[in-house]
Amino acid sequence: MPDSTTDTPAVSTNTGFLSAISQKQRGVSIELDGVSKVYPGQPEAAVDDFSMRIEPGELVMFVGPSGCGKTTTMKMINRIIEPSNGSIRIDGTDILSMDPNQLRRHIGYVIQQIGLFPHLTIAENIGVVPKLLGWSKSRIADRVDELLQTVQLDPEQFAKRYPKQLSGGQQQRAGVARALAADPPVMLMDEPFGATDPITREKLQAEFLRLQADIGKTIIFVTHDFDEAIKLGDRIAVLSDRSQIEQFDTPARILANPANEYVSSFIGQGAALKRLALIPLIDAPLRPAVDGAPQITLQDSLRDALNMLVLTGAAAVNVVDVDHRVCGSITNASISAVLNDAQPVAFAAEGTR
Ligand SMILES: Nc1ncnc2c1ncn2[C@@H]1O[C@H](COP(=O)(O)OP(=O)(O)OP(=O)(O)O)[C@@H](O)[C@H]1O
Ligand SMILES: [Mg+2]
Repeated sequence: MPDSTTDTPAVSTNTGFLSAISQKQRGVSIELDGVSKVYPGQPEAAVDDFSMRIEPGELVMFVGPSGCGKTTTMKMINRIIEPSNGSIRIDGTDILSMDPNQLRRHIGYVIQQIGLFPHLTIAENIGVVPKLLGWSKSRIADRVDELLQTVQLDPEQFAKRYPKQLSGGQQQRAGVARALAADPPVMLMDEPFGATDPITREKLQAEFLRLQADIGKTIIFVTHDFDEAIKLGDRIAVLSDRSQIEQFDTPARILANPANEYVSSFIGQGAALKRLALIPLIDAPLRPAVDGAPQITLQDSLRDALNMLVLTGAAAVNVVDVDHRVCGSITNASISAVLNDAQPVAFAAEGTR
């Protein structure tokens, strides 16, 4: 990877763990316990006493302002940065006792600003870690092909190009493909869609969610964008200076019950609308159908229903299933009732993630 460690102590190689996690392409747990980082010569810690447990297959979003310690926290997990204190376990094994170069080959990493190697083609970039792991040329070529298709870059067109011959969004896709190359159980993604326009970003997010539903990695994903965190995360950690955790919970519960002013300010305007977008109609309490009302499908969200109520001026919208059978209706009053009853909101949204 392009970032290289500067302060790595000599340690033993824990090959048992590495062969165990290399068999586990699906996610494994990550635990950080009292982790701190004080950069040399700095009076204050960049990360201070950070503890968190991430479950296997979970997608956890880190949200916080610039300089609060998101990248530092993440880079300690693959030991590009060495912690000053604390312990980190992956799948129950202490990673600080193993060879960092070996460790890094088993953790996918999308760095902030993409970081493709400019002198290597896209195919060579994606093949970097498999090559280090000693895969055969044909196995690497097959994998590169498969991944380029996964991230919707035509291999014929893109494999032999150099990074500067791709657009920003295409480079980000290639960065995600490179992180996935050796099928690691853990992925660290530092603002992977940061450099794209809103439309490309939305497309990348949707593709990423589809991909994660298939591959079930354990992922830490850093973003500045709270809406991106709501859309993608199983849980969101809202961080303040020195990587202090202000709240760590599901998007629905954070939106319904922000822990403090700081979290509320991060959520920004329109918390109620953001909550409604997380609740599919399939989980909403329906009222009896209303003759002649406009229709919306069960797969849509309460926010879509509200949108239709506002646009049409109707008193109710009827909800229909895939076979166009009317299941019931939604009104402004029923939407308000859901919003004012925090428990079902959190429960409903969680059950559908
Ligand atoms: N090598 C370093 N030496 C000294 N201080 C550093 C070093 N790297 C980062 N810092 C400081 O540590 C703090 C946390 O930096 P970090 O890169 O983790 O922030 P971040 O949350 O990822 O920010 P951004 O959103 O801008 O990427 C910042 O105050 C930064 O200036
Ligand atoms: Mg950063």
